[in-house]
Amino acid sequence: MAKNDRANFGSKIGVILASAGSAVGLGNIWRFPYETGNNGGAAFILIYLGCILLLGLPIMISEFLIGRHSRANTARAYQVLAPGTPWRWVGRMGVLAGFLILSYYSVVAGWTLEYVVEAVTNKFSGKSAPEFIESFQKFSGNPFRPIFWLILFLLGTHYIIVKGVEKGIEKYSKIMMPTLFVIIIILVACSVSLPGSEKGIEFLLKPDFSKVDSQVFLSAMGQAFFSLSLGMGCLCTYASYFGKDTNLTKTAFSVGLIDTFIAILAGFIIFPAAFSVGIQPDAGPSLIFITLPNVFQQAFSGAPILAYVFSVMFYVLLAVAALTSTISMHEVATAYLHEEFGFTRGKAARIVTGGCMFLGIFCSLSMGPTKDITLFGMGAFDLFDFVTAKIMLPLGGLLISVFTGWYLDKKIIWSEITNNGTLRVPIYKLIIFILKYIAPVAISVIFINELGFLK
Ligand code: PFF
Repeated sequence: MAKNDRANFGSKIGVILASAGSAVGLGNIWRFPYETGNNGGAAFILIYLGCILLLGLPIMISEFLIGRHSRANTARAYQVLAPGTPWRWVGRMGVLAGFLILSYYSVVAGWTLEYVVEAVTNKFSGKSAPEFIESFQKFSGNPFRPIFWLILFLLGTHYIIVKGVEKGIEKYSKIMMPTLFVIIIILVACSVSLPGSEKGIEFLLKPDFSKVDSQVFLSAMGQAFFSLSLGMGCLCTYASYFGKDTNLTKTAFSVGLIDTFIAILAGFIIFPAAFSVGIQPDAGPSLIFITLPNVFQQAFSGAPILAYVFSVMFYVLLAVAALTSTISMHEVATAYLHEEFGFTRGKAARIVTGGCMFLGIFCSLSMGPTKDITLFGMGAFDLFDFVTAKIMLPLGGLLISVFTGWYLDKKIIWSEITNNGTLRVPIYKLIIFILKYIAPVAISVIFINELGFLK
């Protein structure tokens, strides 16, 4: 596609919903609760909120302005703005990070499809907590079923990607996001009304700072980047489809708010329910797949039809939330291959889908059949998650903030943030200050501390 006939999102709400669609996904409903559980609860959440405000939002605005100004895929964007410099490697690293995340993320996205089928065929009915644990273990340890769902999920993502930006990404996001929100609210109400749920609420609200160490900071920062889809050029790529009148600061705040709100609500579904049935909060990646089916059974024990309807709706929407995120990751790599190597969009998409299937199979097997094969003590799934969320995304964020704060012409930043002087953005100076000093220092300190140099 030539530079000026690139596709565009058709409406303002489409811009926000598509970006929020990328941000809201398994990161909020699956990863946020288990990271919160593994890192001690409320204190982790507070640090996470700090990371969203201080690092996430300014870096999101950076990605937006880099993407919209260059109107190019993330790797090309740096070539347009900083020709002939090594900055293009920031974009390239982002493409690689997106590709790796898509590979293991699709494994969990595939699990949601299995749970849609279980919900539709009423398999949850009458099961107890230990039975849910056992059936999850059986499923994830099976060599074939998770791979089947992984492949199906990637094919669904592929289908939407080849349909293009406005008809594909925007249309689906507009319907799915609001529906997801409504059902989440209903589930919070159910979960907090379960007997014994108070302990879960306390876990979310009462911080215990004695458990906070450098690992908690790294996890919270990684989760903030992961959840906001930052540090890998995803929102930069989406912003290349934004119109000239999109208010970048407002869009970033809307996306950040929606994303954070949904993550916190997901916490209020999972933990009250987990404590209520005695499931440990640090159960890890399986947490939502064992607690949630339980919530439906217990909350609606007197009305099985409601249990049935809500579980079907929830897993369908979870799959959909995952889909709006997988298409955004897929788009990064597809736009890159299409625009940089001259492949047709279809061929570029096929390469990405095929590559992710290949890597995804290893990740999937590492959750069961090959779980004893490890590197640095981690199987493929955990290793991909660690390297991308805890290293590549924060590193990408660090470089993006340095690029915008120190390298990029301030006139470009000003004209993008204020839409050529037509918008008043009172926090303009604050954004620049954070990008220049706070974000680079904070991310570096967290990295260095975690590597042990300050211990
Ligand atoms: N933000 C997505 C989620 O929370 O599920 C995951 C994600 C999407 C990460 C896109 C990175 C990305 F570029």
